[in-house]
Amino acid sequence: MQASQPPRPSHAIYWRDDDMPQACKDLVSSLPSEEDWIATSLCLYQGFWFPTWLFKGVLACQNHFQAQPSDILLVTKLKSGTTWLKAILFALLNRAKYSDSDSQRRHPLLTQNPHDLVPFLELKLYLEQENPNLTAFESPRLFATHLPYSSLPGSVRDSRCKLVYLCRNPKDMFISLWHFVNKLRPEGKGQTPLPKCLDKFCQGLSPYGPYWDHVLGFHKASLEMPEQVFFLMYEEMKEDPRVHVSRLADFLGCPFSDEELRDGTVDGILRMCSFDNLSSLEVNKSGKLWTGQENKWFFRRGEVGDWVNYLSAEMADRIDQVMDEKLHDSGLKFQYK
Ligand code: A3P
Repeated sequence: MQASQPPRPSHAIYWRDDDMPQACKDLVSSLPSEEDWIATSLCLYQGFWFPTWLFKGVLACQNHFQAQPSDILLVTKLKSGTTWLKAILFALLNRAKYSDSDSQRRHPLLTQNPHDLVPFLELKLYLEQENPNLTAFESPRLFATHLPYSSLPGSVRDSRCKLVYLCRNPKDMFISLWHFVNKLRPEGKGQTPLPKCLDKFCQGLSPYGPYWDHVLGFHKASLEMPEQVFFLMYEEMKEDPRVHVSRLADFLGCPFSDEELRDGTVDGILRMCSFDNLSSLEVNKSGKLWTGQENKWFFRRGEVGDWVNYLSAEMADRIDQVMDEKLHDSGLKFQYK
């Protein structure tokens, strides 16, 4: 006999459009909208498809977030490895605090999910409060966002704070997102059909999509302002994490010392943030986020090329073709096609 399934959490936050300020409701109702992959709605705003329930957070963040020059913002599109990079950036920036073995045993990543340690702006801080007080965050403040480059609050560009952008092979990102949205489906609804999601993805319809425009915005910014925008791919990080963590440390102005390079600090950070370590921690096996989402949903396989197990050759070609067409004159190429 099969064990009965635990009850699904209620993802109340996803369906709560009712507490939107009137100005926000008015704006949303004036925008083109489409159904997303799980029958909630996306609105086209500033050239990108935003989940409607998130609008309050997007507008509040754009209107109120005051970036400081010392801030660090991790920017990703969903399912590009945000959780991993949050952990790495947190461990990197706080390494001096947890350098001896005693303090390593008390490392916050051992008991808290990376999303709790590095909060999202529009998806957490500015969704919960119109203008949150961020003075409790120590400098350098580390936040995350999924906002496209052109929709970032003006203060981010003006302050010239540092942006770390992480993207991922679109086919793996697509499959990762498909798995994730299936978790968000109301109980008993089964999986959302993959071909339907593929159609939408190839039309640019995904949260914070079109995917290509999201990536291109940050790629261009990284070429124009390499001292402000660091552009990284999940696959590069998987292939040579030591090199890229060191590059990140240089970019963030906290390079590893010769002693740290010799004494295993880099490997310690990578071990702490590895998929195997993080996914086996109790907090990430049984904890939940403020959204009701389970922490374990953010750790699925963590591999490069898993799309091959889900996409037919024809489906994969469709993604390749649309990406080739959109990226063709950008000089940007995804690895591991
Ligand atoms: P898969 O679904 O392909 O396994 P995000 O954090 O942006 O939501 O992305 C989630 C993806 O990152 C998932 O991909 C997840 O397994 C992977 N991931 C999470 N933690 C990771 C880690 N420590 N190392 C590598 N990949 C990780």
